[in-house]
Amino acid sequence: MESTLTARDRVGVQDFVLLENYTSEAAFIENLRRRFGEKLIYTYIGSVLVSVNPYKDLEIYSKAHMERYRGVSFYEISPHIYAVSDNTYRAMRTERRDQCILISGESGAGKTEASKKILQYYATTCPVTDHMSTIRDRLLQSNPVLEAFGNAKTLRNDNSSRFGKYMDVQFDFRGAPIGGHILNYLLEKSRVVHQNHGERNFHIFYQLLEGGEQDQLSKLGLERNAQKYHYLVKGCCPRVSSINDKSDWKTVRKALTVIGFHEEEVEDLLNIIASVLHLGNTQFGEGEDGETQITTESHLTYLSKLLGVDGPALREALTHKKLTAKGEEMIGPLSFEQAVAARDALAKAVYGRAFTWLVAKINQSLLASKTIHQLFPLNYCSLSLPWIVFYLQDEVYNSSKGSSSVIGLLDIYGFEVFQHNSFEQFCINYCNEKLQQLFIKLTLKSEQEEYEAEGITWEPVKYFDNKIICDLVEEKHKGFISILDEECLRPGEPSDISFLEKLEDTLGGHAHFVTHKLANGKTRKAVGREEFRLIHYAGEVNYTVNGELANQSVNSRTVICQSDNQILSQCFHREEVTTQKRPETAATQFKNSLAKLIEILMSKEPSYVRCIKPNDAKQSGRFDEALVRHQVKYLGLMENLRVRRAGFAYRRRYEAFLQRYKSLCPGTWPNWQGRLADGVATLVQHLGYKAEEYKLGKTKIFIRFPKTLFTTEDALEARRPALALTLQTSWRGYRERAKYHRIRNAVIQSAWRGMKSRRKARRRRHAAEIIRKFIKGFIYRHYERCPENEYFLDHQRFSFLMTLVRNPPKSVLDKSWPVPPPSLTEASEHLCRLCMQNMMRAYCRRIQPEWKKQMEQKVVASQIFQDQKDSYPQSVPKLFVASRLDSEEFNLKVIQTLGNDKVKYGVAVTKYDRRGYKARPRQLLLTSSFAVLVAEAKLKQRIDYTALRSISVSSLTDGFMVLHVPSEDNKQKSDVVLQCDHVIEVVTKLATMADKKNKVNISQDSIKFAVARGKEAVIDFTSGPELKVAKGKKGHLLVTAPQLNPR
Ligand SMILES: Nc1ncnc2c1ncn2[C@@H]1O[C@H](COP(=O)(O)OP(=O)(O)OP(=O)(O)O)[C@@H](O)[C@H]1O
Ligand SMILES: [Mg+2]
Repeated sequence: MESTLTARDRVGVQDFVLLENYTSEAAFIENLRRRFGEKLIYTYIGSVLVSVNPYKDLEIYSKAHMERYRGVSFYEISPHIYAVSDNTYRAMRTERRDQCILISGESGAGKTEASKKILQYYATTCPVTDHMSTIRDRLLQSNPVLEAFGNAKTLRNDNSSRFGKYMDVQFDFRGAPIGGHILNYLLEKSRVVHQNHGERNFHIFYQLLEGGEQDQLSKLGLERNAQKYHYLVKGCCPRVSSINDKSDWKTVRKALTVIGFHEEEVEDLLNIIASVLHLGNTQFGEGEDGETQITTESHLTYLSKLLGVDGPALREALTHKKLTAKGEEMIGPLSFEQAVAARDALAKAVYGRAFTWLVAKINQSLLASKTIHQLFPLNYCSLSLPWIVFYLQDEVYNSSKGSSSVIGLLDIYGFEVFQHNSFEQFCINYCNEKLQQLFIKLTLKSEQEEYEAEGITWEPVKYFDNKIICDLVEEKHKGFISILDEECLRPGEPSDISFLEKLEDTLGGHAHFVTHKLANGKTRKAVGREEFRLIHYAGEVNYTVNGELANQSVNSRTVICQSDNQILSQCFHREEVTTQKRPETAATQFKNSLAKLIEILMSKEPSYVRCIKPNDAKQSGRFDEALVRHQVKYLGLMENLRVRRAGFAYRRRYEAFLQRYKSLCPGTWPNWQGRLADGVATLVQHLGYKAEEYKLGKTKIFIRFPKTLFTTEDALEARRPALALTLQTSWRGYRERAKYHRIRNAVIQSAWRGMKSRRKARRRRHAAEIIRKFIKGFIYRHYERCPENEYFLDHQRFSFLMTLVRNPPKSVLDKSWPVPPPSLTEASEHLCRLCMQNMMRAYCRRIQPEWKKQMEQKVVASQIFQDQKDSYPQSVPKLFVASRLDSEEFNLKVIQTLGNDKVKYGVAVTKYDRRGYKARPRQLLLTSSFAVLVAEAKLKQRIDYTALRSISVSSLTDGFMVLHVPSEDNKQKSDVVLQCDHVIEVVTKLATMADKKNKVNISQDSIKFAVARGKEAVIDFTSGPELKVAKGKKGHLLVTAPQLNPR
């Protein structure tokens, strides 16, 4: 149907809704048969999966298959149990809604296998962490344990589940399995004590006897021979070729460990299994007084040991009963038959409750770990099994679910009809009745919801509502179960006949209830006198009332309440036997648990797997039409199809529809660019769909008849060769173009590579030639210019000049200059000079006038003092100033006296008297034509520059200077001895202004100076630690100049 299908998958229709004749059961079965013949065991009815048991491994369950179905849309791939699993999982993750998968079918149809495949799919494909892998393993390992204790070989199935199972798998927000929970329904306990011919007891008995170690068996008082045990030989079939009890035992032991059973728990469990076998072998005989007594003492001894109860008490419990007469309790003997019944009832009760305990224990191990610690403090959890959890397991689980999502798996028995149908068949069929009701309700509901969501008018569908039958069974006061309860609780011995009469009284006249008495002639023959007939939705079933009531009333459990066996002490409570209140009957218990199950299922989004068994012989490849027809009817598949087909046979999302059929319309081929709905409308218009044949919803197209779809499919089939041709042509064109491009690129590439190589070779040749010339030139470098060295010399010259260009001297002080080659020595000198001149010119152009003046004065100072006076080097970095005295320091009177002669420089000096050398503070003022010594407001001495003969200073660091003036000149006083801190500056300025640069004398040791009228005095200079001025011998002035610190 969809693009991924192979021709084999196209056998028949893979969705029954596409059957043209959908009301025909024959067409339905023919489709199943044709597909089954091709080993196509799965077919859909809409979203329901119908599965036919192949009875052989089809190799369609590998990891690769799981991957094929993972994340793929349900309808895009052939039907499979993995498609249902994946679809359910994705719905749970995307919609965050709990899901459930309901698997039904008759015994041997493959329900348990299907549920295991689903679990395996989740275990393999869901993400898991280390902790989660423990939970995952436990989920998987719970199967072999439950199967060992709850499955048995029957005539229909070698591994028949003898209990109903609902299992929740919990997933966290990442979609990883984090926990699980199992609910079990109605274990077939009668099998513990009786099996039909060709059937076996529960697997665990045979597994223990075959696989258990010898020590273990001895401890349990067992022999490795199933034939020895009465409870195991009723069916005359202790061995089955398809079952390997020994290896199954190993699997179960391993699984118990994985699930987390402690050794003591396993031991207690095995004690119970063994005690059931010992009970079976417990025989009764008649005592001397005709009383019933136990004749097999050894078994009784083992029983008391294994059950952990008092031997005599157990003996009494098996041979006596408690009677209450007039308010007094009395003990009375049991008849032989009663004792056998009490023994069997005990065996069933012990096994049945141990099974319930087992489920509780598994549930505890599957609790999401965070839950158990949240709900119970650690000290509870440290026990191997917190009893509280055991008793409240369902409540604990329900309150623990929190934000996790759940997928439930229901593996429940399908309709059963035998020659004689007992109370158990009644329960099973009642359960199926309820599930069918739920199924119809939910299927219709989801159909309606889909139509409404797509904006399509819902047309009501007529269907058979089996509520009438459910009411017949469960209605309060009037229903079958109420009547049964009433009859059981009535004082006195209940009888089957009175019960039947009561049923006739209350239910007589109901369309779905018939008894021998109520029936008319034809039906009467088919209903026995101790039978009643219920007309179920799936067919008529006669139930026998024989033993119906007895089953409900046998009670011999008092003694077990005191058991030392931990499991039994948890399963049996004293209150049960001491309470006055009558316990709920099995029917009411079942009704209540069923109501709970329906409630659970209603709260989830359901998916369905309907299993069909193709033949009764468990043979592969055999399709027994009558048998299949029977199941199709009982599973209500035709009803299911009718509901699904009531509106539209086929619906698909626009994108999927367009993608598949777009090639059939030029408007949509090869790609439709507009809205999807418009694309589909264009397409169906082009295909000529009539208005009544289809409807366009919001996101889907609904096609009413399969014929319309098949015509479209045929058109696609017919179009395929043309399409293939177009695709082929395009592909070839594309291939050739690609080839051409490849070749073209290759040619261009090789040409480009050739050019590059040639260029490289040329460059190498040239380089080699240059190197050769260079070496030769180097050898001939000292020769005259000749062909051998001309390249080298040129290169030398060139590189010298380039060095100069790239790296010329940076300042006038930078004296570096590259060494020129010999041929450029002269040029280099010229260049160096030019370069210096340029730099100097540039430097001079940049100099400011003040700075120029400063420099000029410094030049004069250097001409006079450089290498002559010790204090000169220190004065070089100190700038000369315009005047050492500010104009405010000049005396106004002096300034007035000077008149037009402006003071150009003033400095404070010390004047020494020519006689006596008294030091006097003075100001020395320089004008443009004379110098004056000023004391306060008086002009003490005027020295005209024309009269200034010379200036003397010492060569030491002192600040003495002597201004020599002619003494014969009356206007002038005699020579002047001055001392000043700025002697270099003062002498430079004075010499410059007076133009006496050549008249500055620098004396080494002493200076002579004229005192008056031809007389002379002397200043002696010496070096000392500090400046000292004193009068020395011979009237000399002694000046000690401070020595310069050695650097
Ligand atoms: N998909 C399958 N592929 C191969 N064999 C299968 C498949 N499903 C079932 N079988 C075979 O059929 C047998 C019976 O299947 P299963 O035990 O699942 O039946 P059931 O419906 O659970 O019956 P019951 O109601 O008695 O428990 C299996 O043991 C197996 O041999
Ligand atoms: Mg099963």
